[in-house]
Amino acid sequence: MLSAAISPVQHVGGDLDPTRDLVAKSHLRPTRNPMAPSEIVYASKKQQLAVANLVQEFTILPAKLKEIKDRFKTEMVKGLANQGETLAMVQTHILGRLSGSETGTYLTLDIGGTNLRVVLVELSQGAQVSTRQKKYAIDPLLKVGEPKLLFVLANDAVIPKGRVLELGFTFSFPVLQTGINSGTLIDWTKGYSCHGMVGKDPAEFLQQALLNRNLEVNVSVLMNDTVGTLLSHAYLHPRTVVGFGLGTGSNGAYIERVDRIRKRDTTALGNDAEASTQEMVINIEFGAFDNERTVLPITMFDNKLDRKSLNPSKQLFEKMIAGMYLGEITRNILLDMIDNRLLFRGQSSHKLNTPWEFLTEHMSVIEEDSTPDLEDVRRVLEDILGLGLVESSETPVVTTMHADATDVKAPVQTSGGESPSGGTVTTLSDRQIVKLIVALVGQRSARLAAAALCGMLEHTMGYTWARDEAEKQEGVDIGVDGSVYGFYPGYESDLKGGLEELFALEAEMSFLFTKEGDNDSLKDRVRLGRCLDGSSVGAALGAVLATRSMEHSLLTAKSKPAGK
Ligand code: BGC
Repeated sequence: MLSAAISPVQHVGGDLDPTRDLVAKSHLRPTRNPMAPSEIVYASKKQQLAVANLVQEFTILPAKLKEIKDRFKTEMVKGLANQGETLAMVQTHILGRLSGSETGTYLTLDIGGTNLRVVLVELSQGAQVSTRQKKYAIDPLLKVGEPKLLFVLANDAVIPKGRVLELGFTFSFPVLQTGINSGTLIDWTKGYSCHGMVGKDPAEFLQQALLNRNLEVNVSVLMNDTVGTLLSHAYLHPRTVVGFGLGTGSNGAYIERVDRIRKRDTTALGNDAEASTQEMVINIEFGAFDNERTVLPITMFDNKLDRKSLNPSKQLFEKMIAGMYLGEITRNILLDMIDNRLLFRGQSSHKLNTPWEFLTEHMSVIEEDSTPDLEDVRRVLEDILGLGLVESSETPVVTTMHADATDVKAPVQTSGGESPSGGTVTTLSDRQIVKLIVALVGQRSARLAAAALCGMLEHTMGYTWARDEAEKQEGVDIGVDGSVYGFYPGYESDLKGGLEELFALEAEMSFLFTKEGDNDSLKDRVRLGRCLDGSSVGAALGAVLATRSMEHSLLTAKSKPAGK
């Protein structure tokens, strides 16, 4: 955490510190209380002011967070009423809940932002799960080329021969579902753009690829990864109503009451009495939230990222919170500081000048560093990103200089390590500033994610959970998958902190708080459970539900009088 990194403090500007007020106004959770810009060792006034401005831009105060959450809820309702709204609110055709005693062997295929996984999942009564799996990191070339190349990976040795297997297909991209195992790709996200797939059915594509290889596999369910997360968590925790994904991309799925889906095709779901008790999993596709830019505090650094992305003006919310983007936002800020000669004495490196080279993983290392000299931050900046390396003449490292940047007083500081060429590279104040910037970007992501999650919980409260006193006491479970939630230091507590803040602002949510010493806390009533790689088990459970709903429709068809 940042506070641990503060060593001898030298205030520049003394009592007249212009940044103090800005910082005092900033609401930052006590769990991650970054140092004030004025506490950065030897920072010049200009540096302090620039950092204070960043603090203000990236800190989302409670009132703003509530405004974002309220807008999120409104957009959910709009998406349930009409096709083509910003929140797609995709009907997954997965009806009902799990009993927890599902059994059977299913094959699952999961195409995600980073990996492709083929898993043989055995569900055995009593919620025991065992799996065999093959996992591939998807080559970036496969993300943009012929879709065939991507799907061919599915023909893997883990697929047993000699019997017909049902397959649950997890496809982590926005799909407008037309049935439980069919749908059309709305758009690629997360840096994918394989040709000719938008508007096509990925399940059909996969089924064809399997048939071409004479594999006896039936694609019985097509589902989003967050739906898989929801189902796999619900298998073990029956009070689960939300599946949340915070990894390379971001999204959420939840259990909705069917009579609230106003855009639904009424004929497909039986009569209204039946529909009012039925529940369906909805895939929100919340990465597109506020593409109209009405409420999100979008900065110039976000805009820069968006313009350079493969899908400009789309997935704006995702671009502020997901793992694929956090590093790039940070890189944009660092370059701006460098251009203003406020970091690294105006020097950049080839790597830092290269889009997408500063990774969210680097941010995790930086966040975790609590050494007095910020040695790990130095390692990332100098050893990995090459700051201070003597580079070839084709790769200029000195960026634009500002005429008024002459009062930068960062002293030559040797404790931070020597560059391979023998000169000093980053100073301690450079590293502290970098650490603070990283914390701001990470924390903003977690708080925005909290706004979405809180919106989902409020939307469903009283419909699928907390319907009576007993349910209120039992609280609610949320399954969360994804590397950002799983591995980014401090993320979980920032997200929970944001949730607590938001719930505290709504009187009807007060039942969620339990007393913990002197504090009210969400502990025990809103349970966020890590569900890493849960989507494979979820896809198997989806295949169970698909078979069940197929049997149900066959039964209903049989019991209907002829001609109806
Ligand atoms: C996709 C979602 C997916 C999420 C998490 C987003 O880019 O649009 O469908 O659930 O990433 O993987």
